[in-house]
Amino acid sequence: MRNSKIVGVGKYIPERVVTNFELEKMMDTSDAWIRERTGIVERHWAKEGEETNSWMGAQAAKAALDMAGMTPRDIDFIVYATLSPEFYFPGSGCPMQVHLGIPGIGAMDVRNQCTGFVYALAAADQFIKTGMYNNVLVVGSEVQNSGLNLSTEGRDVAVIFGDGAGAAVLTATDEKNKGILSSHLHADGNYAKELWVEKPGSITYPVVDKTHVDEGRIYPYMNGRFVFKHAVTKFPEVIYEALNANNYKAEDLDLVIPHQANERITEAVQMRLQIPKEKVFSNIHKYGNTTAASIPIAITEAMEEGLIKDNSLVCLAAFGSGFTWASSLIRW
Ligand code: ACO
Repeated sequence: MRNSKIVGVGKYIPERVVTNFELEKMMDTSDAWIRERTGIVERHWAKEGEETNSWMGAQAAKAALDMAGMTPRDIDFIVYATLSPEFYFPGSGCPMQVHLGIPGIGAMDVRNQCTGFVYALAAADQFIKTGMYNNVLVVGSEVQNSGLNLSTEGRDVAVIFGDGAGAAVLTATDEKNKGILSSHLHADGNYAKELWVEKPGSITYPVVDKTHVDEGRIYPYMNGRFVFKHAVTKFPEVIYEALNANNYKAEDLDLVIPHQANERITEAVQMRLQIPKEKVFSNIHKYGNTTAASIPIAITEAMEEGLIKDNSLVCLAAFGSGFTWASSLIRW
């Protein structure tokens, strides 16, 4: 069976920078608290009406296509990961296709929050491995700032999230030992309510009303400590699952790119794997948690910094709402 490999990556970061000090003016928080608990120094917020979810996805996609030496017309299929689509439906893959000028090809949205990009990559990989498509565009894009409670009540979540987009072009290869070696996808819906946005949701008629808005049920809720505890267990577990499936050990890894959830989670993962700090990528200080966009943005920056070379063994790993957790082992 043929394999799939990443031949281009790209990112789009909104222009507006929001520092921790700016958040201090909106809610009862402090730069010191945010840095110490999360490692975040600043994040970017998309501009209303201009930097939309699908538009940012398209900018990241164009950058990824440039690196791949391709044009949008070379793409056979789109897999689009986001928790913050511009509409309840359709998903953002459809409007992004219009920005890229390629109507007609399939566009599938993936709803797996922080794990979205790894799920999307796994789906794209399967489409290529089975021979259905040759070139698949995988996108992760988020506009979080329009959905946050920016008062003191919402501070635990509001300080964490940021906006941005990242993309990868996946193409078919006959090289057996290169590309995506394996993907490992998990979920446990028992914990859905520990990290969720309840409204709008079809369980009530109508899907959202004034009471829901007044009660703050339209904002993300996160049981922070509970999520933290599960994340520090599931990240190493799913990375070891990928290593074991391919007969590798942690010391064989050239780079781990974890979803950028919290610097303390990343440090705990590094300690559990017993690998040097330089082998675990981090850029959360600049962007916060950009959910489905965090991994493709991180891959792009790791490549820019020369941390990923031909033949590098790279593990992507994520944990988030669902709960969901996933990994992907890649020989570059
Ligand atoms: N500024 C100042 N104080 C705050 C803030 C804030 N922004 N947020 C909470 N606090 C206060 C709390 O009210 C609490 O005060 P109290 O002791 O008087 O009650 C105190 O700080 C400690 O709060 P904790 O929630 O216990 O703080 P913790 O050390 O757990 O850090 C955090 C909170 C950063 C949210 C942490 O729990 C975390 O990182 N959790 C995991 C996040 C994550 O990985 N999410 C997954 C991805 S998200 C996705 O999938 C969509």
